[in-house]
Amino acid sequence: MDWDLIQKMRQGFLDTDGHLPDYWHDERWLSAYDQTLAQRIRWKWQAVLQVLAESLAGVHGISRIVDWGCGTGMATRCFLELGGRPAPQVTLHDRSPGAMRFAAQQIQREFPGTRVELMKKLQVPVEPFVLLASHVLSELDDHSYGELKKLAAAAALVIWVEPGRTLESRRLSAVRDELRTVHHILGPCRHDLPCGALKDGREKDWCHFFAPVPREVHQSAFWREFSTRMKIDLRSLPVAWLATVRPQYRAGIQEFSDEALILGRPRAFKGYCRWLACTKEGLCSGDFQKKHDRTIDEALREPEFMTILPRTQLIRKDDASL
Ligand SMILES: C[S@@+](CC[C@H](N)C(=O)[O-])C[C@H]1O[C@@H](n2cnc3c(N)ncnc32)[C@H](O)[C@@H]1O
Repeated sequence: MDWDLIQKMRQGFLDTDGHLPDYWHDERWLSAYDQTLAQRIRWKWQAVLQVLAESLAGVHGISRIVDWGCGTGMATRCFLELGGRPAPQVTLHDRSPGAMRFAAQQIQREFPGTRVELMKKLQVPVEPFVLLASHVLSELDDHSYGELKKLAAAAALVIWVEPGRTLESRRLSAVRDELRTVHHILGPCRHDLPCGALKDGREKDWCHFFAPVPREVHQSAFWREFSTRMKIDLRSLPVAWLATVRPQYRAGIQEFSDEALILGRPRAFKGYCRWLACTKEGLCSGDFQKKHDRTIDEALREPEFMTILPRTQLIRKDDASL
């Protein structure tokens, strides 16, 4: 593994102010990325697709995947593996022809028989499609961002995964709020009201979660070296994500009005937990006293990828603020 190259690549991702020039110099870069940073992206997609499994089972009529900014094709590979449907047609789009070729090879190797087309200049497909977008929001100029949003609005289903950093998460929330008038929101929140993180006074908050990392990673010498060299804590995998569907492609969507979705990681103290949650009324935060309910206290101390609690039990008048 060429660790210096990965380090250089990662530093580029970290330093960006929202625009990055094409960095796929050759196949070495793609291969190194695919074995390291893209694997972490795979774990995020696995977590998101697992949460979405039930919702996706009810989605019908979609015959094409469009993977925008495909890189090495990780989003498509995860969707083909876990999206719960037979391999449809795949359109890969990236500004880098080398990346599209690499992604196509990986997809055809892992899912033989899948029809893959490469499109440097993307046209909106005529048939119903799922748009997959992954880790692109920190790299786009305004024009590409606008094009991508138009494509998302035209998609039957959108699944979009980003790093759990403020910049990407808040951009994704803005995409969500543009889509919510024409699409149903499948997750992470399960209401169609404006995103609470974008309301005035919430500038320091952002919608993000922590995806689980496969257990074997913690026993792997390769990942230990990755962690040491990249200074990445392997236990922490922050992610922001969004899934939406056009109503005609998903029957029986339920609204969940009485729930609180825990954002980030609650902070545990002796006797209480400090939490931030998304509710239909907006974001809400508070200190939950253990003495009120042990089950909720435990859920806050050891949160799952998506921790959803009964709103009225979490939010108590004496210790929460909207
Ligand atoms: C960080 S990589 C993510 C790749 C892949 N989606 C993943 O999750 O592993 C971002 C990708 O977006 C592509 N990209 C950046 N700006 C783009 C643009 N304006 N149009 C198309 N692709 C773009 C890059 O070439 C790169 O492959």
